[in-house]
Amino acid sequence: MLTEVPQAISEAIKIAPVDPQYYGPDDDRVTRFVDQTIDTWSNAEPELAGGLNQLKDLLTPLEQEALTFYLASTAFAIADAAPPLEKPQQEIKERATGVTLFKNLTSGEIESERDAFRTTWQTVYPENLSFAATATFTRETVLSQPEIPDLDAKLAQLKADFAAEMQTWKDAGKTPEMRDMLSMKLKLESKYPNLKDYMFDLTIGDVDLVSNPVEPEYSDVPERMGFTGEKLWRIDQRAKEYQRLLRRAGVNITGYQPIPLGWNALITRGLDYLGHYGMNGYQNEGCFMDYGGSYAMDRAFLLAKRTLSEEGVTSPTALFPTPGFMMMKDVAENTGLKTMELVTKPEDHFLPTPDKLKEILLAHPEIKILVLTPINNPGSHVAEAERIKQILDMLEGEQQFKDIIVINDLAYLGTGDKDQNTQLGKTLNQRRRRIDVLAWTKLLGRPGLRCATAGTPDPEIAKWVKPVARNVTLAISYPMQAETLAVLDFVKLEDMERLYQLYRHRQEKMIETLKLRPDLFDIYHALVTTWDAALYAFVPLANGVDPLDIMPQTGLFGTSARAFYASVFPDIPNYIRFALGKQPITEQTIDRMRKMMS
Ligand SMILES: Cc1ncc(COP(=O)(O)O)c(C=O)c1O
Repeated sequence: MLTEVPQAISEAIKIAPVDPQYYGPDDDRVTRFVDQTIDTWSNAEPELAGGLNQLKDLLTPLEQEALTFYLASTAFAIADAAPPLEKPQQEIKERATGVTLFKNLTSGEIESERDAFRTTWQTVYPENLSFAATATFTRETVLSQPEIPDLDAKLAQLKADFAAEMQTWKDAGKTPEMRDMLSMKLKLESKYPNLKDYMFDLTIGDVDLVSNPVEPEYSDVPERMGFTGEKLWRIDQRAKEYQRLLRRAGVNITGYQPIPLGWNALITRGLDYLGHYGMNGYQNEGCFMDYGGSYAMDRAFLLAKRTLSEEGVTSPTALFPTPGFMMMKDVAENTGLKTMELVTKPEDHFLPTPDKLKEILLAHPEIKILVLTPINNPGSHVAEAERIKQILDMLEGEQQFKDIIVINDLAYLGTGDKDQNTQLGKTLNQRRRRIDVLAWTKLLGRPGLRCATAGTPDPEIAKWVKPVARNVTLAISYPMQAETLAVLDFVKLEDMERLYQLYRHRQEKMIETLKLRPDLFDIYHALVTTWDAALYAFVPLANGVDPLDIMPQTGLFGTSARAFYASVFPDIPNYIRFALGKQPITEQTIDRMRKMMS
């Protein structure tokens, strides 16, 4: 007799799959299929029925549903790990697996979901298909590098070549952007393969937790984030489980979708995350998913444009504070929007001041969209809630600014201090006429996964979400959504926060290391620069230092501040941005950086 919820059951509930595309009674095929499966199993197996019944009194309806999903989905996954039997035998095998799993979860002797899962696996496949050991999945540590003879001379040669490459760009009057720098790095790497470790990949805002071992103090992060070990294996299985559940519930998972907004369950995860940082009130019909922050921003621009056009504004302009991630300006222009740049200052932490913003909005009444990137890129800073409040209060205070749609690019929400993020989120929440775009790319450390969630709390914008969706796409990829949902089943907020700590750690180490060259980096004298949002370090350069000289002198591949402005003007602040998602900054890396810098 169960008098309390066994630990293994609680854990199973925490990582249980959900109905991916539950749209209420309109589409609850997966839920119905799962319920029917468990009913069928219970009818045939009184012990399972009895156990589930006992748990009913101990679990909330939502927890009961989660357990049902967990049981059916996990039993299918285990049973399906071997080639399928004839249908009746396969069904018997699935049911027997479900019953064994339930027994193991509730036995009292097995204390964790993980062990219940493993024991079940071993019962089903005692000999010929054993559950693979975790060790198989753990990443190898790097072997220590052999000594490089004549290292100093070789590094000097590398620096000279590097400088010559930079000179070509200087002569052409070109500011290399991130991908130019990446191509240059690959070129130099193929010329000097042994010196690879002396060229530091700090250019593009990518994240890579697998190619190189991360810092020893953060060695738990790749596994926590599901890149190695058993979690990786479970995530892979779960992604397949989602596709299996949908298929078996009769959903055509290779087909078009009548409402290409993305899975409801993923939207819910996005809203939960936003809610965690104080953002809420989204309209039910006002949310959608898309391929990463960039496509979600693209759709947000189309949505804003459509809303404004229905209100009679035919040629709106979108305003972009700079320095900023300039690709978004191109994205906006590609939707047919006009754009303008609002240049911010270092002493304002690269945020618009309410006065300057008001002045530009009054002078240009055609500005109807304001894009805010309140965290990180390139500024490495979480915008002060107070500053954002002043801006939003100013917008609320003027009748002619009431219809301005604020688009918040929240690609970095959560990175940096938690309370600062929450204060910021709560403040951004005060404007209803807005669209929030939350990209999962950096937050899950998977830029290539291409997943983002967006939403608006404004019913006047929300009503155009479906019509716009129908104009832009016929379907959102099922495998991408299955993978993202699987990741989010196993990678929890506390894991993501640990990743953000790793970003922050790198930022601190980086800034510390740059102090070695005060002739290049103005770290000590920077009056106003704060680095608190992690993933990047936007660093002021000493007077007269050309950002293109930094790379050959230090081996640090960064991005010149100029790449973050739309227009070229003489007093662009002399900064360089280092992106910290790829290059682990271990003691060994720091030693090499020091060597390159000396
Ligand atoms: C401010 C900002 N928004 C959005 C993105 C793009 O994210 P995604 O890879 O999700 O398209 C980036 C990428 O660096 C970014 O810096």
